[in-house]
Amino acid sequence: MTEEKLTELLKSMTRKEKIGQMIQLDGGCFKQNPSEENVTGPLERLGLSKETVQLCGSVLNVMGAEQVVKIQKEYMQKSRLKIPLLFMADIIYGYKTVFPIPLGMGATWNPELVCDAYRMIAAESAADGDMVTFSPPADLIRDARWGRCLEMASEDPFLLSKFSAAMVKGLQNDGKPGKSVASCVKHFAGYSAVQAGREYNTVDMSERNLRQNFFPAYKAAVDAGCELVMTSFNTIDGVPATGNQWLLKKVLREEWGFQGVVITDYAAINELMTHGVAENEYEAAHLAINATVDIDMRTACYGNQLESLIQNGEISDEQIDQACMRILQLKNKLGLFENPYYGCMIKKETLTQSAFQEAALARIVANRSCVLLKNNNVLPIKNHPKIALIGPYADSKDITGLWAVFADREKTVTLRQAMEEHFGKENISCDKGCDFLYDYESLGDFGNIKVSELSAMTEVERKQQEQKALENAQRADIIVMALGEHILQSGEAGSRTDITLPRPQKELLKKIHALGKKTVVVLFNGRPLALKDIEPYCDAILEAWFPGTEGGHSICDILSGDYNPSGRLAVSFPYDVGQEPLFYSQFSTGRPASKNVDRFTSRYIDCPNEAMYPFGFGLSYHSCAYSAPVISQKNMMPDEELTVQVDIQNISDCEGTETVQMYLRDKVGSVVRPILELKDFRQISLKPGEKQTVIFKISEEMLRFYRQDMTWGSEAGTFEVLTGPNSHELQKSEFQLCKK
Ligand code: BGC
Repeated sequence: MTEEKLTELLKSMTRKEKIGQMIQLDGGCFKQNPSEENVTGPLERLGLSKETVQLCGSVLNVMGAEQVVKIQKEYMQKSRLKIPLLFMADIIYGYKTVFPIPLGMGATWNPELVCDAYRMIAAESAADGDMVTFSPPADLIRDARWGRCLEMASEDPFLLSKFSAAMVKGLQNDGKPGKSVASCVKHFAGYSAVQAGREYNTVDMSERNLRQNFFPAYKAAVDAGCELVMTSFNTIDGVPATGNQWLLKKVLREEWGFQGVVITDYAAINELMTHGVAENEYEAAHLAINATVDIDMRTACYGNQLESLIQNGEISDEQIDQACMRILQLKNKLGLFENPYYGCMIKKETLTQSAFQEAALARIVANRSCVLLKNNNVLPIKNHPKIALIGPYADSKDITGLWAVFADREKTVTLRQAMEEHFGKENISCDKGCDFLYDYESLGDFGNIKVSELSAMTEVERKQQEQKALENAQRADIIVMALGEHILQSGEAGSRTDITLPRPQKELLKKIHALGKKTVVVLFNGRPLALKDIEPYCDAILEAWFPGTEGGHSICDILSGDYNPSGRLAVSFPYDVGQEPLFYSQFSTGRPASKNVDRFTSRYIDCPNEAMYPFGFGLSYHSCAYSAPVISQKNMMPDEELTVQVDIQNISDCEGTETVQMYLRDKVGSVVRPILELKDFRQISLKPGEKQTVIFKISEEMLRFYRQDMTWGSEAGTFEVLTGPNSHELQKSEFQLCKK
């Protein structure tokens, strides 16, 4: 439809119809065979009239081509102006075929690969009815206590930005009809910085920190063309994001030029009342519309209040027109006026064909996302020894993690399946050995996952399981323990103060270790864990995150040596939860800790300051020697570019992939600058003995930051260039940025 036609359409709409476009309802209101109760129940609970269903502009989390076609058909038949519904869903890291959680994708340090993954995710979900997906989550990881670390790729603004842009590009796939979905970056803004890592808690930080560290990844998504932005639940400088004019109007729309649709997070307009900035729905709707929020996800605020706000002269018809037009434009971009069923018409054969490719890609991404944290010459497992596979994740399909709500469990390959395939069934024994947790109650229900149905083992079962596992372990040559967090221990509302492995699993590991056999721990979790108390009880640790549908195969590829692990942490792993928030790009402070014990320095008396496994870290089966960085010139004028040269030599007899990292340190600034900032990285593959040279460039633009007066720019002075395989093992050199 042309822009003129769209404007005509807007003109022909009644005020009620326009407001309808700004309302999003969930699937419950559009049941396939709606009985009176099915439809009116959810609406009544929301406080909306039955007519709202026919007026509303978008639907939340309904998937399945048949269902989508049916709902759309019925809706269109009744629609006066034939404006199709927009179907939106949470496809966070995979639809039926699930890829590793974004935290794992971050560990690939390979945005191009992740872009390919999201292209496939888009095609698979579009073919089953999705048109908009609430991804990428672009909240900067700051605190491992926060459960939603799972959904984010990194603690580093630069790396996270690369991934958020790549995800948008993949999802939107140049707008290929039916093979792409519109992407919605979230949760704008600063959602991850909740105090003490407690979900939905207050966020309070300086504008400098927000702009310097938190904004870049959302902005990268906007610059990559994402069509929607979702507001976050938290406050920004005392004002909840969903009613925050500074954030949404000034920063997002004016400064960044975002012209797309702003949608709230789940029922977030209502929360303006519970936050205590609105007395009632009327005031809440007023705040949101004035902040240019276009779609009200699942509340009655817009539906019941916008008209009165106009009638009382509090807001203008123009505000409604602008919001409605943005929504119509999005529908038009997706071609819904021509084909309201979007990707649902893709032929079955094409889907089966691409399902194979998806599984293959999911395996590659999972291979690259696993991070080897420890290896005392026990991995890879050569030949075909007797292996005792033990642990709650040994044969579990939950390895797709919490947010993979649409995962095809049939297709999910467990570690047991993969290990039996590879090492031979006769060589593998498999035991749960222990329960995930002792107590499930505190987890609370999550959507369809009901805690009451997650029955804990009885005391007798526990003893039997443990006994059997110990016996099998005794007979084995090597033990592989598949341990981790229960899926409900991370993800939304999964904050923890204890970020170690759950107690029953630690206890079992200690008993297994006492047998004196080689023991490998494979971890499944959605956040950086504190591993201090398990590290001494095993010979190897492989961090597998929640690796997705092909997880079993991918892990087995690494255990067997078919894949040489290349994953590098994109987050810091602490020794202890007390170090949180922990991230590598800290400030030096006025009293930096020294190597010797000096009481009056910035340190803990009972724990190191540094990460146990630092940002950028990961082991492989090969090893490399890095040269110190050689800078092309010692002085740099602002319009010049420097080159930094690093030689890397594979000093082993195994081919492998290295992620060469370059960090900078601005030694003196008008405001304090971090001790390290990642500025570039390169992934190279090296044959045994091979030497390669990586050349990085440094331009003045890379040296900019928010200066004391909040202008964005660089300052002359000394800079350190630090290069190496991770943020701890670095060699450095220096240059001067000169004044013009
Ligand atoms: C989450 C969002 C999600 C939305 C819709 C909210 O609870 O915070 O990330 O997209 O629900 O399901």
